[in-house]
Amino acid sequence: MKKTRIALLTIALFYYFAIYGQQAAIILHAGEVRYRISKNIYGHFAEHLGHGIYGGIYIGDTNKLIPNSDGVRDDIIAALKKLKVPVLRWPGGCFADTYHWKDGIGPKKNRPSMVNKWWGGVTEDNSFGTHDFLNFCERIGADPYLAGNVGSGSVQELSQWVQYVNSDGQAPMSNLRKANGRKQPWHVKYFGVGNEAWGCGGNMTPEYYANIFRQYATFMTDWNNSDHIFRVASGANGDDYHWTEVLMRDIPHQLLEGVALHYYSVIDWKAKGPAIDFTQQQYFSILKQALRMEELVSRHSAIMDKYDPQKKIALVVDEWGGWYDAESGTNPGFLFQQNTMRDAMIAGVTLNIFNNHCDRVRMANLAQMVNVLQAVILTDKEKIILTPTYHVMEMYNVHQDAGLIPVTVKNISYVYGKDSLPAISVSASKDAKGITHLSIVNIDPGKTNMVSVQLLGEVYKEVTGRILSSHEIQDHNSFDDTDKIKPVPFWGAEIKNDMLQVKLPPASVVVLTLR
Ligand code: AHR
Repeated sequence: MKKTRIALLTIALFYYFAIYGQQAAIILHAGEVRYRISKNIYGHFAEHLGHGIYGGIYIGDTNKLIPNSDGVRDDIIAALKKLKVPVLRWPGGCFADTYHWKDGIGPKKNRPSMVNKWWGGVTEDNSFGTHDFLNFCERIGADPYLAGNVGSGSVQELSQWVQYVNSDGQAPMSNLRKANGRKQPWHVKYFGVGNEAWGCGGNMTPEYYANIFRQYATFMTDWNNSDHIFRVASGANGDDYHWTEVLMRDIPHQLLEGVALHYYSVIDWKAKGPAIDFTQQQYFSILKQALRMEELVSRHSAIMDKYDPQKKIALVVDEWGGWYDAESGTNPGFLFQQNTMRDAMIAGVTLNIFNNHCDRVRMANLAQMVNVLQAVILTDKEKIILTPTYHVMEMYNVHQDAGLIPVTVKNISYVYGKDSLPAISVSASKDAKGITHLSIVNIDPGKTNMVSVQLLGEVYKEVTGRILSSHEIQDHNSFDDTDKIKPVPFWGAEIKNDMLQVKLPPASVVVLTLR
């Protein structure tokens, strides 16, 4: 009893001093690890859109000056390996529901062309197809996630794609694969059953799509799903909670392994604003949108909990990120945008939200990997840039497959005009070696913030860290200054007994290692 009183008094004093001193106060419950942060939360998405694939990842035999293997850029492979990409979704997006996979196999000169009607109306020559993608995934060490065509495809087409990539022995699809040069199946686990079925995937109602999903999912495997494939239902658009409710209610759970959710941080779909020369008002608005992810995953998860209290079905946020006006002088249908410290903030807070909800969020895919929307890499012919978003994802990869350490946060505010947002975002994990990592973001662009962390449940002796920050929130890497923004060692954290003090510069992302 006496012990409990002392503990409560310590916590009360801790909060009192934190608030009095204008600090954020965090409690790290290191002894209460319960859920694992799936590495797939750090997944990516690459669509046949603009220079996401062609020119970005794949150059075919078009440019002899860029080192490549089988047409895939070596610089991209090296950068993505360092990132530890766990899973990669392809070929769309909206493109997926127009894509016929058989057009992308066999000798390249025989492959038919099509028009990419959603993205710039350009000719798609199908030179980057199933083999190219799956071999690319093998080379970067990522699990492939194939998005199947439901909107304009057929049950037969998708079930044959599953057989083509996964079946062995004497079967028409495995024989076709072997004839195309690949003996062993790839054993693809993740399959999307359509994309945005409420929009570009067919403008369906959730009730109609739930029935369609049942039909497709049935023929993708056998009675018992003995191939252990993971079928993801096309999910809600942002806060469409009714969509999730219907899917969870109407789809038999033995056919369903994941339910998707798409959410972009956008100020206004008709006036998205510039990627670089934004105002502080636009910065504040985008961060407000990004922080909405907390509410979205909480409420979609609560609906899923109602139908699936054992949390067998994953929430898969397979498109997320910031979306701005395309850079001037580029094809607006190519969605090419620069990437600044603002994007680092979006990535940092969003990944913290996913980590903290890892009981249900077990995959997420940043939109998109290269040259499209909130990309981790931008290319210009033979040059590449690693963006601030790349650096955040690389710094955070210590959380992949680690145990989530719950945190309690007494936040302070980032005030803009009459509005305010929580300034500090945090998540923590313990890895397989017992090392603790803490990722903290200060979104306030004008204020250094002090954070005090009470360390419960484990004794730590040493703290080291890395920081990503810059002078201005508009700062970015360019093809002339590729390393303006990159992580550097962080010296602003100190441990004294069970207290960690952290001094976070304005608009910064810090990842700490505690031993
Ligand atoms: O990522 C760009 C597009 O956004 C995708 O193709 C679509 O699914 C979403 O609307």
